[in-house]
Amino acid sequence: MALVAPSEAASTKRRPSKSASSLVRSRQRVIDHGEVFTPAWMVGAMLDLVKDESERIDSRFLEPACGSGNFLTAVLARKFASVQARYGKSEFEKRNYGLSALMSVYGIELLADNVAECREVLLRQFDDFVSVKTDSDWHEAARRVLSVNIVWGDALTMKTQPDDEQFITFPEWSYLGKGLFQRRDFRFDTLTQTSSLSAVSDYGVDSLFADDVAKHDVFQPVREYSPMTHQEIAHG
Ligand SMILES: C[S@@+](CC[C@H](N)C(=O)[O-])C[C@H]1O[C@@H](n2cnc3c(N)ncnc32)[C@H](O)[C@@H]1O
Repeated sequence: MALVAPSEAASTKRRPSKSASSLVRSRQRVIDHGEVFTPAWMVGAMLDLVKDESERIDSRFLEPACGSGNFLTAVLARKFASVQARYGKSEFEKRNYGLSALMSVYGIELLADNVAECREVLLRQFDDFVSVKTDSDWHEAARRVLSVNIVWGDALTMKTQPDDEQFITFPEWSYLGKGLFQRRDFRFDTLTQTSSLSAVSDYGVDSLFADDVAKHDVFQPVREYSPMTHQEIAHG
């Protein structure tokens, strides 16, 4: 899972059209939680730094302090543009790849109202893109995906909220084709160790240790699921 910090603005260096006040909810929340939202123009400029990844349908993005989703909605808009360009002519493919794109965005947020807003914004974006109503299985599958991909938790302790005894886990979703999705869950705290392991391969010694690395806890899911259709995700 790529840990890429930080929503869609074209690659523009224009100044924000949003007023500064819309980037802050209250002075107290800024003091307590550092809650200042990133304007769309800046989000777009930052995503342009990783343009290819931001446009790749299955690249995984995690925003560890996602707020109401300014970065994640922009990433999703870019991914949806790629889905439309490649699969827009087939409703089946568009919906499955659209769900796959949604499955590749992740967030952690400390404040419950931001978590709810972030999930809601992303869900509406999905529904609009694949043209489904709120009573459809697609909507329900997307809702369930967001309930596990956007976590109410503390990115520093890597524990959930309000129960801070639980370690945060994330599902790794993969689209297998023909309408089937694979899910494997990993603990966030172990995922964060992957960079230290990839340093091994940077030194060219991965062939010596490849087996040991593959058996390392980082690569061991805490739960594996059988392949599922979107209906099974919706009703499972
Ligand atoms: C500066 S705002 C940025 C929000 C969003 N990333 C954006 O750019 O618009 C920081 C966000 O991080 C959240 N936050 C603060 N500490 C956190 C923590 N330890 N774990 C997760 N989220 C946290 C705040 O509630 C706030 O929504």
